[in-house]
Amino acid sequence: MDISLQQILASYDDQARLDRAYTIPASWYVDQRVAALERQKVFGRTWQAVARADQLLRPGDFVTAELADEPLVIVRGSDHQLRAFYNVCRHHAAAVVTAEQGSANIFRCPYHGWSYGLDGSLKGAPEFEGVCGFDRSQNGLVPLRVEQWEQFIFVNLDPDRSSLADFLGGLVDGVSPLNIAQLQFFERRIYSLKCNWKVFVDNYLDGGYHVPHLHKALNSVLDYKQYTIETEDRYCLQSSPMVASSADAATAATRTGDRTWYFWQYPNFMINLYQGYMDTNLVLPDGVDCCNVIFDFYFDDVSESASERNRQSIAVGERVNDEDAAICQAVQRGLRSRAYGAGRLSVRREAGEHLFHRLLAADLRREYRDVLDAGV
Ligand code: FES
Ligand SMILES: [Fe+2]
Repeated sequence: MDISLQQILASYDDQARLDRAYTIPASWYVDQRVAALERQKVFGRTWQAVARADQLLRPGDFVTAELADEPLVIVRGSDHQLRAFYNVCRHHAAAVVTAEQGSANIFRCPYHGWSYGLDGSLKGAPEFEGVCGFDRSQNGLVPLRVEQWEQFIFVNLDPDRSSLADFLGGLVDGVSPLNIAQLQFFERRIYSLKCNWKVFVDNYLDGGYHVPHLHKALNSVLDYKQYTIETEDRYCLQSSPMVASSADAATAATRTGDRTWYFWQYPNFMINLYQGYMDTNLVLPDGVDCCNVIFDFYFDDVSESASERNRQSIAVGERVNDEDAAICQAVQRGLRSRAYGAGRLSVRREAGEHLFHRLLAADLRREYRDVLDAGV
């Protein structure tokens, strides 16, 4: 007999202390129903990073995005106001803006030519005279909430959630002294992994547990024993002092400074900082057993003279990511095995994963409670 979604959701104890806790069960990583629920209750209700401020500097600059299967467009208006809309034509639902990013004075739907202002208002609807009760002012693009923090633009599909600052909580003060605004965007790379999005997040949040085993070159510049893990609100900060090393020349040359900071914000956004370097990771589910991870690389110097060093730095990051990708894909296969149900967590290392699993369970069970209350 098939196990019900309610049974699956009930099979995780989010009250257990870290030293008694288990991970969320394997079924949460492989069941289509959990993935559908996450789309609605996690990605449809949390603030999600969808663009960078440098993409939206001038009036008319726009970026399109997809979030929880919703097509979106984010645009800087002629009044300099940032706005976000569902990228869905009010006529017959085609995507109005088709480019990934660009600049426009007006948005014209490619299907029947309806046009919209940068403020979303319907400007033109060809051959629509004589349509009874059609009110142009009620047929603009449908807006959604958009806010900026540091150089990141976030949207929220849920009109009833509290502000972005509330959602980010302690992350704002944690990041603020690190002055990330001085770092400039250099390049984007997107990695497709054959694993559930949570496998990638878990791997990120294991408190450096895997670093000595999986990332030998990276490990040579970290003081692994001094690695710290702090959890608060919806974020986790992992940090490590750096040590001088000649074990791997490329890593030693591009991962410098006294300390490294790795911030994770629930559910799927990471900020990784070394001296003069930042990369952000946005983990987006693509079905239940694939995900795409968008890496944006930033440097303090993005001039031509620094470009070779910057590329070397990205190559170092890419090697670490290849090592992570291979293990994440192996984990996804293991999660499907009859031999595995759930695992225990290292008290020294895995508090971040514990926080992630509890936050996720709370979000998914809000729905579960709704279902129970409705007597379904
Ligand atoms: S669907 Fe956009 S104009 Fe018809
Ligand atoms: Fe890793």
